[in-house]
Amino acid sequence: MKASKINRREFIKQSAVTGAGAGLTLGLSNRARASNVEYDRNDSPNERITIGFIGVGARAQDVMDDVLNLPGFEVVAVCDAYQGRIQRAVERTGGRAKVYKDHRELLAAPGIDAVYIGTPDHLHKTHAVAALEAGKDVYIEKPLTYTVDDGLEIIAAIKKTGRILQVGSQNVSSPIQMKAKEIIESGRLGQITMIRSTTNRNTAGGAWIYPIPPDANEQTVNWEMFLGNAPKHRFSLERFFRWRCYKDYSGGIATDLFVHTMTTIHYVMGAQAPECVMAAGDLYRWKDSRDVPDTLNAILQYPEGFTVNLSATFNNQSASERSIEILGTKGTLAIGRELTLTPENPIDDNGWIVGSWPRSLEEAYYKDPKIRETEMPQRWDPKVIQTEESWRGLGRNSTALHFESLQKAIKERKQPVEDVFAGHRAAAVAHMINISASKKKPVYWDRSRDSVKA
Ligand SMILES: NC(=O)c1ccc[n+]([C@@H]2O[C@H](COP(=O)([O-])OP(=O)(O)OC[C@H]3O[C@@H](n4cnc5c(N)ncnc54)[C@H](O)[C@@H]3O)[C@@H](O)[C@H]2O)c1
Repeated sequence: MKASKINRREFIKQSAVTGAGAGLTLGLSNRARASNVEYDRNDSPNERITIGFIGVGARAQDVMDDVLNLPGFEVVAVCDAYQGRIQRAVERTGGRAKVYKDHRELLAAPGIDAVYIGTPDHLHKTHAVAALEAGKDVYIEKPLTYTVDDGLEIIAAIKKTGRILQVGSQNVSSPIQMKAKEIIESGRLGQITMIRSTTNRNTAGGAWIYPIPPDANEQTVNWEMFLGNAPKHRFSLERFFRWRCYKDYSGGIATDLFVHTMTTIHYVMGAQAPECVMAAGDLYRWKDSRDVPDTLNAILQYPEGFTVNLSATFNNQSASERSIEILGTKGTLAIGRELTLTPENPIDDNGWIVGSWPRSLEEAYYKDPKIRETEMPQRWDPKVIQTEESWRGLGRNSTALHFESLQKAIKERKQPVEDVFAGHRAAAVAHMINISASKKKPVYWDRSRDSVKA
């Protein structure tokens, strides 16, 4: 099938009109519809957003590939604490990105409109606030924060500077999640009282024991730059390359994995934050490589009238595909790589109860038309029951779409889909989970302060 050619502005306009329909297909029948869009790459240079990368690690290099393919952005600057990553980022840009010593030098350089922040979590606030105060718009990786208070400081910086900030749980820009939101808002799931999600892994890489590059040493790695305001510690390549394993730099499972889930749940449910969080977990197996839990369970209670169960372990890989199940009285919506709506078709069977009644009463019971409607076997008839529907996202990935959301926000000077509040609250849930698990106590949210109750 021939691809249709449209320019970027038309595409954004079209996406806004078709909303969740763009890039989404129902079942297999319309499969060809989604990805037949090609960009006109002749954007005028003065419409391009020049972007500098603070931190060009594993995630940033993936993101850079997407950004380099997006018309409207130009990667002009990079900085990092490890030489190997700088080298690879410069290679990726075909030598076009200029290298800066650190984030301060990069932020002071002329000609940079926006920055991508892909540093470890404990540095996010420092880099975000410095970028906002330097007048840059920002795309910052999830989790927005390392502590709840970090979030309040970044919110204050946004209010002060008026800059645009997008947080990087990119899946909320995917057509799948937009469609999920639309289905939930339409009421098709009935009353939703429970949501659950599990992410399990059972490999060293899955547990963040990543390979360390053979050329990494005290000459190629800037340890002080990595530490920032974190507690002083002797040089450690394990800490530098596997920082998710250590509380000094990361909130572990909660901030790495649950944050994506919580961003989606808040987005599709139109919810802000749970009123109460209870969690349990510990470090049971990977004791030599970390100080964060390898198993974590959390229960969240929302004032909007639903609860959430989250769980993750690095010690078993059943339920390894992260999907979020939204359980309603009329149907279940599973949000993952695809979206599946399974209607409830509730059928009652009180036969074992009325079978204990006198025969005449049992017979009378089944003559009642209301009972025949809800309990008789013909209710299983495939012509009567509602069947499953599924949608698949095809074509462009959610990171590219999330950057386009940022681009639109920058042009219109309106905050994008995952603004500072969304990022702050999703990360705050993760921090509440960690506080609850470590103190073995419930933790409460204070909506008036947008923070944890003292
Ligand atoms: N959105 C997603 O799907 C997704 C996926 C993976 C990671 N992430 C997030 O991206 C961020 C980075 O994760 P990663 O897996 O790429 O980690 P990484 O360790 O591969 O990358 C971090 C990079 O930051 C560099 N760095 C450290 N201190 C620095 C400083 N002071 N200034 C500049 N650079 C510095 C490191 O050298 C490293 O290259 C994290 O916040 C993580 O949660 C998001």
